Amino acid sequence: MQGADVDVKDRERILQAVNEGKRIRFVTYSLTDTMERQLDFVIAAILKKHHHPALQSTLYSCLKELVVNATKANAKRVYFEGLGLDINDPDQYRSGMQKLKGSISEKWIREYGEKARLRGLETSITFDHTDDGLRILVLNDTDLIGADETRIREKLSEGMSYDDLLSFYMANGDQTEGEGMGLVMNLLLLKGEEIDPALFRIGNIDGKTMGRIEIPFTENFQSVRGKDPRGWKDRPAEETINLNFTTEPGS
Ligand SMILES: Nc1ncnc2c1ncn2[C@@H]1O[C@H](COP(=O)(O)OP(=O)(O)O)[C@@H](O)[C@H]1O
Ligand SMILES: [Mg+2]
Repeated sequence: MQGADVDVKDRERILQAVNEGKRIRFVTYSLTDTMERQLDFVIAAILKKHHHPALQSTLYSCLKELVVNATKANAKRVYFEGLGLDINDPDQYRSGMQKLKGSISEKWIREYGEKARLRGLETSITFDHTDDGLRILVLNDTDLIGADETRIREKLSEGMSYDDLLSFYMANGDQTEGEGMGLVMNLLLLKGEEIDPALFRIGNIDGKTMGRIEIPFTENFQSVRGKDPRGWKDRPAEETINLNFTTEPGS
């Protein structure tokens, strides 16, 4: 199992929750090293329990991309507020992004992650699993920006026409400067594992942005699409463990 030989915070609690089939939820404001190891470990424990260890690196890469996007979006929202700019106004968005360009670093993410925390802008990561499948939901307290949404959908549908990452990068790598590559990468990684692209969703709900990955383990798996499009049906408190994080100095 990946993550087995490094120190994982709350390791025993996580393992026990996975083995009891509980929902596991993390709340965070920026992605720390500690949390990266925990997320890797949760995935490893779930995949091991349900006998799908081969999906580890794909799932972990996809999840990390979603969490980075989510925490970055909250941080960006705080940054725009600080400048007195409306992130949802296309012109103001462009001007804010111009100012921000080049200054997003680890340090920036940490600093603005902390500001997001003070401002109450969360990212939550929820794992639900049964013998039939796994569902991972990442939510953050920022809308997908209108213009972004159109761009994202275009990118994703374009991505669909490629069979693998390499051919997509060969065709697009030079002109996109890394922007908007993450979600397409996720799509193509999942496609590479023969996971139906419809099971990877990005969308808006109630002022939040949602990223969702569903992985069927058996033919009985039911996607939340249609039935419960929000995909975050409540479960009783005793069926959930919550691992809450504030930003940790030095991690
Ligand atoms: N969770 C999210 N909340 C708000 N906006 C998001 C979120 N995820 C992605 N986006 C928007 O979609 C764009 C494309 O995301 P992505 O493909 O990962 O590219 P990148 O992260 O390199 O910009 C982001 O630049 C951002 O504007
Ligand atoms: Mg990204």
